[in-house]
Amino acid sequence: MPENVFEPRLVAFCCRNSAYAKERDGILKNYSLLKILKIVELPCSGKIEAYYFLKAFEEGADGAYLVGCPRPDCHYLEGNLRAIGRVGQAKKLLNEIGIGGERVELYLLDPAIPAGFWDVTLKMIDRIISLGPSPLNKGGAQHA
Ligand code: FES
Repeated sequence: MPENVFEPRLVAFCCRNSAYAKERDGILKNYSLLKILKIVELPCSGKIEAYYFLKAFEEGADGAYLVGCPRPDCHYLEGNLRAIGRVGQAKKLLNEIGIGGERVELYLLDPAIPAGFWDVTLKMIDRIISLGPSPLNKGGAQHA
């Protein structure tokens, strides 16, 4: 990326059993992606808490997303339903504090769809580039 283009920093919270797992090896070898994307693996998307997102922004993220299993496939039965509620809470909190709820998203990916994780990652990168740096990242160019 040219030096003057905003390079977003993202955090992906990923259920270990989700479509992410199928793409994991390729993702973890993609060093240019890992320069802007931090992966946090969870045993289930339902383990997410709204404050995980707040912490990600506090630590410099410009956007964050959660990847889980589709509704009938959660190994913990209702984990992904809890995830829907918690992402909703995070969006509300981020709106209230002026960071913007649109900077977080939930994707319950069908593992049968090839490259699902890549697709949502590119969507999030595009979304965050269009939103610009998080209000907490003054100038937005300080990412190492
Ligand atoms: Fe993947 Fe629950 S095991 S969302």
